[in-house]
Amino acid sequence: MTTLLFPGSFDPFTRGHRDIARRAARICDKLYVAVMHNDSKKHYFAPDDRVFMVEESLKAIDNVEVIKYDGLLVDLYKKIQCNAVVRGIRSESDFRYEAEMALANRLLYPEYDVMLLPCRDDLSLISSSIVKEVGLYGGDISKMVPSEIYGFVSDKLKKGRE
Ligand code: PNS
Repeated sequence: MTTLLFPGSFDPFTRGHRDIARRAARICDKLYVAVMHNDSKKHYFAPDDRVFMVEESLKAIDNVEVIKYDGLLVDLYKKIQCNAVVRGIRSESDFRYEAEMALANRLLYPEYDVMLLPCRDDLSLISSSIVKEVGLYGGDISKMVPSEIYGFVSDKLKKGRE
């Protein structure tokens, strides 16, 4: 059985994230999507809200399980005995960041491996930061987040403006 792990902070979950999850789910038996903490970022959405957004966006995919994990990625990797981590890349800077993260994780756990999926052209400009910036100023984020969570994300960002 092939198990993949797609970790991220998903603050919020975007159409780009959903595309990576869909493609990863197609090439494995079981895909775990882990909502995690990125220490270099200040998260806008609470962990449970981020889990909710991922679950709502991926509920049509049978072999996906969403989990919340607050700890080292390699510890989760060992715990669920996955075959590889999956991450999406949009640009050269994403690639550098992912390569550094892979090196660090491999130092901690030599069995660690990662698959990098280039994002779809039409989704390459979407990031969680852009969704937050546009949404906080009242702009239209309907093309950036899955339709299932559009209302939820817009409302939360609207409250941030008040
Ligand atoms: O969506 P993000 O913010 O790029 O995801 C980054 C994330 C959460 C996968 C990364 O920060 C992470 O793995 N956090 C858990 C703590 C950890 O293991 N850090 C060491 C990575 S070298």
